[in-house]
Amino acid sequence: MARFTLEGGKRTRARLLWWAFRACAGRDAASAGVVLRIGGALELLQTCALVHDDVMDRAVLRRGRPALHKDLADRYAGRVGPERAGRFGHSAAVLAGDLALAWADDLMAETPLAPGTAEVVRRLWSDMRTEMVAGQYLDVQGQITEARSLPRVLRAACLKSALYSVERPLALGAAVAGADEVTLRRLGDAGRCVGMAFQLRDDLDDVFGDPRVTGKACGDDIREGKPTYPVAVARARAKAAGDGAALAVLDRWLGDPALTERGLDEVRDVLVATGARATVEAEVDRLAARGLRP
Ligand code: IPE
Ligand code: MG
Ligand code: MG
Ligand code: MG
Repeated sequence: MARFTLEGGKRTRARLLWWAFRACAGRDAASAGVVLRIGGALELLQTCALVHDDVMDRAVLRRGRPALHKDLADRYAGRVGPERAGRFGHSAAVLAGDLALAWADDLMAETPLAPGTAEVVRRLWSDMRTEMVAGQYLDVQGQITEARSLPRVLRAACLKSALYSVERPLALGAAVAGADEVTLRRLGDAGRCVGMAFQLRDDLDDVFGDPRVTGKACGDDIREGKPTYPVAVARARAKAAGDGAALAVLDRWLGDPALTERGLDEVRDVLVATGARATVEAEVDRLAARGLRP
């Protein structure tokens, strides 16, 4: 677990935390120490989220390496066979994720905070954990229900990414720096936009991205039948255009554990032909630009 946490990843959340702290004029050494500890807690929380996410999503590649559950299973497959080793890998990954979460919470609990700041920081931390879990729940629930409307898909993306990955880390950094209400609100708005852009890009990358760049396999969301925004847009556009063939391709492959490279190519074609890819690309640009405006 220590290796997973230390030897990969982009430190996105910890960087957002740090630069929000600096942007809000946080500069004394004691506060900087607090921010670094919260950054460590964010990385541990992210270890929990990713290790559990890969179990739930049956993903085998993460950060360019075997996902933790796969790595653990591979070590024992020769001894007990793939089936039992697979179950062991899942169980051990659940435990590893639990431990990462416990350590993240310990780190937060042991971080000395000034009285006024403590309340805000602890509330943000607790909201963020809850939001992440709620987003992940909507994500997996969307796989087995028809609850895949655009608003619902966006709500899951907002909870599991915009809030968890960007808005809350920014708010934590700003809170430690003692930022005022107006600054907090404006950072929050920007963070929400950038965070949504981040998840929509992630959803596009699942279909069109290069695993050598993303460190993740292609097509996992399609194979698992994830309620992603690009697919929801493709469906809506195909329906509006009466494009039965496009809908048939989506129905054929979404959620099929035996998704082939050819099947994934067909899905790619549908996302392009319905204009879903271009629409989502434009949405990513719009959100990113809105998040970055002064
Ligand atoms: C997971 O979303 C978000 C969290 C871990 C909170 P995804 O399932 O889309 O993430 P990837 O694509 O596996 O990284
Ligand atoms: Mg997931
Ligand atoms: Mg995943
Ligand atoms: Mg994803």
